[in-house]
Amino acid sequence: MPQIVPKGRCIRFKVTNSMTESSKTWSSKTWRPKTLAVRAGVNRAFQETSEAMFLTSGYAYNSADQAAARFSGDDPGHIYSRFSNPTVQAFEERLAALEGANFCRATTSGMAAVTATMLAQLSAGDHIVSSRALFGSCNYVVAELCPRFGIECTLIDGTDLAQWEAAARPETKVFFLETPSNPGLEVLDIAAIAKVAKAKGARLVVDNVFATPVFQKPLDLGADLVIYSATKHMDGQGRVLGGAILGNDEAFLADILQPFLRNTGPTMSAFNAWVLLKSLETFALRVEAMAASAATIATRLVAQKSDVLKQVLYPHLPHHPQYDIAKKQMSAGGTLITLEFAGDTDTAQARAFAFLNHLKLIDVSNNLGDAKSLATHPRTTTHHRLAEEARLAQGVTPGLVRFSCGLEDVDDLWEDIEDSLTHVC
Ligand SMILES: Cc1ncc(COP(=O)(O)O)c(C=O)c1O
Repeated sequence: MPQIVPKGRCIRFKVTNSMTESSKTWSSKTWRPKTLAVRAGVNRAFQETSEAMFLTSGYAYNSADQAAARFSGDDPGHIYSRFSNPTVQAFEERLAALEGANFCRATTSGMAAVTATMLAQLSAGDHIVSSRALFGSCNYVVAELCPRFGIECTLIDGTDLAQWEAAARPETKVFFLETPSNPGLEVLDIAAIAKVAKAKGARLVVDNVFATPVFQKPLDLGADLVIYSATKHMDGQGRVLGGAILGNDEAFLADILQPFLRNTGPTMSAFNAWVLLKSLETFALRVEAMAASAATIATRLVAQKSDVLKQVLYPHLPHHPQYDIAKKQMSAGGTLITLEFAGDTDTAQARAFAFLNHLKLIDVSNNLGDAKSLATHPRTTTHHRLAEEARLAQGVTPGLVRFSCGLEDVDDLWEDIEDSLTHVC
């Protein structure tokens, strides 16, 4: 029989190969990350080598008694795909194994993960302290949406530990941050902020989209919850949207998160889960190659003498303002680089546009983490909704370009960048 889903689905990573259990006992064996990326979450029904896709919204029961037992929780198993689905569960188990988390819940998008994480645990009168260096939609959720429901939010300079301390109040329930941030690549000290959060009785939620679980493990550094947009590096091939929430506190899952997800329904589709499940098999290989190219390009850009290029930032280059923290908590610098063009507002933006418009290989796109290299102008796209003052406070200047390094040959990428820079005057 296939693996039975325990009540509450608070399952630790477990590989089962149910049809061959007599010949191979795989249960409960924990492998290294590259093995887990290929093997975790496997639950074979017919000895299939590729995981099956369960495109079903509902499930049938053997009897009315069994249906009642499912709903009461006495009979573990699937009820409805808004609550759980075998394919989605396989993705969740595989990602939880990679992250080293006790649980993972998959959502329709990264923003569904952010929104669910906040609304599941916060009520009117509660308070969020958040780093102000956030992706535009994350800023919307904590600084605009939550306050509409009586949940206050204080945005701070997350690089200043004293500001986390000072902003926390007795009613602060959540500390929220992105590191590295989108797009400014601000790097925050997860371990140090986690200590403050613990002392203040708040949960630390880390958006780990830019670093990926391959390069950074927030839970190991003291975070309570980790959020992903699986749309980015996990799919990494521009096909599907997805998100994930991971953590270790099973009581939080059972009492707070699971009831919220089950009843409000931001559930990942089985098709998207299947695509992402298969993508996880090559995830580490892809981001390691992308990050190696990003490091090469960032180094070449810094070496480039250019009057129009004011600054190039990459977390693992020594002149990055939080280089020491980035080296301490990230095993590689990631796949993203920022280039900042010099000049007053109009000149800097015109230079950024000239650079983007002359790229021949690299696409202009607001997405990131893709096998195809992508470049964007955050001020006029991902962060266009913010007031100029708020944008500038997090380094989203008129001349800023965010570059997401893909899997193309690094020399082709470099030639495209170098050529485009010659058109910027
Ligand atoms: C840091 C960060 N968090 C969350 C999201 C939201 O992800 P999604 O587009 O899958 O909703 C994004 C998207 O760009 C992001 O960059």
